[in-house]
Amino acid sequence: MKRKIAFGAAIAVFALALLSTRFYMVDVPLWHILGGSDRPDPVTLHLRGEFVESNLGIGKDPTGGFIVRMIAQQYVFVPQCIIVPAGVPVRFRITSADAIHMLSFLGTNYGLKAVPGAVTEATFTFADAGEFKIPCHEFCGPGHYAMRSRLEVVPENHFPPLEPDERRTCDAK
Ligand code: CUA
Repeated sequence: MKRKIAFGAAIAVFALALLSTRFYMVDVPLWHILGGSDRPDPVTLHLRGEFVESNLGIGKDPTGGFIVRMIAQQYVFVPQCIIVPAGVPVRFRITSADAIHMLSFLGTNYGLKAVPGAVTEATFTFADAGEFKIPCHEFCGPGHYAMRSRLEVVPENHFPPLEPDERRTCDAK
């Protein structure tokens, strides 16, 4: 009987531990082992791979069109401001360095969930030029309500051509 209770308690503790790692989504080594090596490691995002700083912002997509790469982290989106041409499909790829964040383009129904250890991808077309606020719509900690970024949509003929390896954010127009 005692052994059964001990076994039950062990299972409960294990289940709780699993649940808590799922809820807080801190860096879990097991998560990466299960996910394979092609998933971005939240701890080394800035150091190597697709999401190094020089690769963030908008660039030319090798498959044609444009690609935007972003990182969400407590409590900023990097880059802080992105610029895209109007009326053109733009492929977004985003990951998180820590918790789950939700990038939402205010005034549209576009949104992207940023998950540590995974890349979220979606293609959006912003029909008209304008500015959109990008607040975080997933509670991610005490700084959540101040976490925001900005999107500038400019007419396509105002969007300067990009070199194949060039990346752009709002600051370097
Ligand atoms: Cu990031 Cu809420």
